[in-house]
Amino acid sequence: MTDKKANLILPPSGALYELDVISGTEGPDAIDITRLYSDAGVFTYDPGFVSTASCHSSITYIDGDEGILRYRGYPIEQLAAKSTFVEVAYLLLYGELPNAGQLSDFNGIITRHTMVNEALLRFFEGYHYDAHPMAMMVGVVGSLAGFYHDSLDIFDSRQRDICAHRLIAKIPTIAAACHKHNIGEPVMYPRNDLSYSANFMHMLKGTPCESYEVDPLAERALDLLFILHADHEQNASTSTVRLAGSSGANPFACVSAGITSLWGPAHGGANEAVLTMLEEMGSVRNIDKYIARAKDKDDPYRLMGFGHRVYKNHDPRARIIREVCHLVLEKLADSNNPLFELALKLEEIAVNDEYFVERKLYPNVDFYSGIIYRALGIPDNMFTVMFAIARTVGWVSHWTEMVSDPQFRIGRPRQIYDGAPKRDYSPIGERG
Ligand code: SDX
Repeated sequence: MTDKKANLILPPSGALYELDVISGTEGPDAIDITRLYSDAGVFTYDPGFVSTASCHSSITYIDGDEGILRYRGYPIEQLAAKSTFVEVAYLLLYGELPNAGQLSDFNGIITRHTMVNEALLRFFEGYHYDAHPMAMMVGVVGSLAGFYHDSLDIFDSRQRDICAHRLIAKIPTIAAACHKHNIGEPVMYPRNDLSYSANFMHMLKGTPCESYEVDPLAERALDLLFILHADHEQNASTSTVRLAGSSGANPFACVSAGITSLWGPAHGGANEAVLTMLEEMGSVRNIDKYIARAKDKDDPYRLMGFGHRVYKNHDPRARIIREVCHLVLEKLADSNNPLFELALKLEEIAVNDEYFVERKLYPNVDFYSGIIYRALGIPDNMFTVMFAIARTVGWVSHWTEMVSDPQFRIGRPRQIYDGAPKRDYSPIGERG
């Protein structure tokens, strides 16, 4: 309960309703409208949920004006500099940084869940060789529920944990298998002697014909990208996982729904779209033409990798990724990478352009990530899959938090109906 109140006076009667105002640890207060419809018979209206808190959560905190991102209270800058993706996965899932024993046990569990059932690998034979990897991810991840009947009781915390471990561990194996199907190479089995990120690179780039040594810089860069993409509060795909899970659906199907939402170019699909945009732009000489298109109200064109629903300051992740870009290109690829030069110039011009400044449109997490993935030799059509690998940790953490909440109930938004008023059925002979 709270002693802060908001008063609502509703027309036409002028009736007064006193609503509770809820405060979290940080961030804006929220007006509790839980009982508004039952008490006052009215809905609130917020398409796109710009001003709506859909739940309580203690996982991630974002301050869009200050450019703040914290996982369980830890600033993303510190986790990026000092942690590993597996340690961040433990933090997001369980709420605290693990001690040495807990981290070793957790890492051991994830490592030993990385293999998938052999029958699952046969699913790939049903896809055309050039199926988009995200199309395969949606199908294959959802089908995991067909293999784990032993752990689908979502109200049993032990079984929830097993599902979370299985998803975090198996997503990279499935992701790499999507790519192998695309290029007609055999699936590479996971290796238990490699780190999470090195194992993914081994499964993605290795072949049975020779041993594949993962470059330590590539391993560190990938692990850092996974940390930065692991969670982000109630974004579209996480909200999709929560709404799907609110009906009691199993977590494999919910994560498949999250992958579907992430695929959109307005969300996780943007990293692949940024590279397409930069290649289409081709040269610094064309930047002004594309910026003019992005500003043209009559042109649906948008600069991919710019803007964010929450960040009205720099996306802290973009700043970190920009630095990693320089390092990776210097060590692993052509440091005069024309696309990176073009990206730097585009950023410089856009962030000084009044249209972007006025609307607080800054480069977001997707703006530079694709350039690093390409420097790591990851194909463009796998960029959003990379995002899904990392975000699976956030998705299962939010799913676990929601299902274990005593207030757990199905999500069921209402609407403002603008359709036809009541009318009677007309026989076909009497219709226009
Ligand atoms: C991710 O939510 C998350 O947390 C997402 C994410 C995560 O980690 O989960 O951070 C990951 O999805 C990052 C965003 C990646 N998407 C893109 O880079 C695609 C390009 N950006 C946009 O389409 C857009 O900026 C969104 C979708 C990111 C945000 O859309 P909003 O909040 O609905 O913003 P809006 O459409 O209301 O735009 C406000 C104004 C509009 O102009 P006006 O009508 O006021 O004149 O800004 C303009 C828009 O036209 N605008 C852009 C623009 N983004 C917004 N104009 C040109 N280029 C753009 N990229």
